[in-house]
Amino acid sequence: MPATRTQLSQAYPIGSRVDEDGRLQLGGCDAVELAREFGTPAYIVVEDDLRARAQTFVEAFRARTKDFDVLFASKAFPCTAIYRVLAEEGISCDVASGGELALALRGGFDPARIYMHGNAKSLAELRFAREAGVGHIVIDNGDEIARLEAVVGEGPPQPVLLRVTPDVRGRTNDKISTGQADSKFGFSMADAPAAIARVQDSAQLDLVGLHMHIGSQILELEPFRLAIEAIAPLGDFGTYNLGGGLGVAYTSEDEPPRVADYVAAKVDAVNHVLGPGKRILDEPGRALVANSTVTLYTVQSVKRNVSTWVAVDGGMSDNLRPMLYGSVYEAQVADRFGGGTLARLTGKHCESGDVIVREVELDDPRVGDVVVTPATGAYGHAMANNYNGVPRPPVIMVSHGDARVVVRRETYDDLFARDVE
Ligand code: LLP
Repeated sequence: MPATRTQLSQAYPIGSRVDEDGRLQLGGCDAVELAREFGTPAYIVVEDDLRARAQTFVEAFRARTKDFDVLFASKAFPCTAIYRVLAEEGISCDVASGGELALALRGGFDPARIYMHGNAKSLAELRFAREAGVGHIVIDNGDEIARLEAVVGEGPPQPVLLRVTPDVRGRTNDKISTGQADSKFGFSMADAPAAIARVQDSAQLDLVGLHMHIGSQILELEPFRLAIEAIAPLGDFGTYNLGGGLGVAYTSEDEPPRVADYVAAKVDAVNHVLGPGKRILDEPGRALVANSTVTLYTVQSVKRNVSTWVAVDGGMSDNLRPMLYGSVYEAQVADRFGGGTLARLTGKHCESGDVIVREVELDDPRVGDVVVTPATGAYGHAMANNYNGVPRPPVIMVSHGDARVVVRRETYDDLFARDVE
């Protein structure tokens, strides 16, 4: 089959293609050239993809309702350049810690459009949020109420949302399911009424509405509807933050709902169940950033025993998800798409579990080949680590044939930069 006809899976960034010579092009840049110029492993972000996905969310909401906001759940890709691009697209931002708040502010988000989460916010984090002028703080537990009241003191009341757990589960990995009653997040349905009354009585807090987030990488719409029905008995509020959770395609086999259908399901359920005229907030993380990014690696060794082991220069330090959740990715040699050799794509770390893709078909993989794994934008850079003293990869942003480093590669000096002795 001529390479020109190679169909890229939907896991790749919008606008990616395999050219006439069979080479992967990302944002107008040749993937193997990017690897040569910036080294590997490297995260390659296609800027136009990010912008397009933000616009898709905003347009889907605009088509259905007047009063809404889309919040970037920034835990998915907390890096200044990503915040900057999404701030430019006019969306709001959710942060889950003081560190993410610092990054969001640096990335240019208007503090008034930041929502602060966290199930264990410290006094210092709450003070930071107040001093920065964070628009909304999402109250997660009873202990936090008095703590935040003390921080507000005599100052103007702090607008807050109250996080509730509707006791609805979406089908996803247990580690990233949050809507069940026995959750570390939010108030249970049983405890929520008293917490709502307590916050409504507070002189320091201004309760604008409820928040919920039932889990992540959810590939069906029904749980989102059920969750909205479940929280209806808690009262009538002006604002509902419905969390994130929309799943994405990691491989050609995955069939996530379309953004428009996801938005329609949520907005229609709010209108029917909670009533018209509500302000609806949504917090996509993964669905905004996952498919914007690929990781490039270089093959260091091809070894055959029972299996064929294709070992690359990264692994669980740049993508923890296969190990943590058993997540399945696809991979290709970046200038020879196609199959032929059944292989295990494995990382460089000192654990047998450090396998990036357990079963992958590659075209005769050789030492020096550049291998690409798509859909690494969400929770890749975010959960990267220095296991085995491996420096974390750079983030390279590509757009219309230009490539620029937006996060540089770590150096060995960085590995001891914090050592005091
Ligand atoms: N809102 C809240 C309150 C959340 O806790 C999360 C994700 C989101 C929104 C965004 O959810 P998303 O749209 O990305 O599904 N490290 C895991 C994912 C953890 C998700 C944590 N919370 C992974 O790599 O799959």
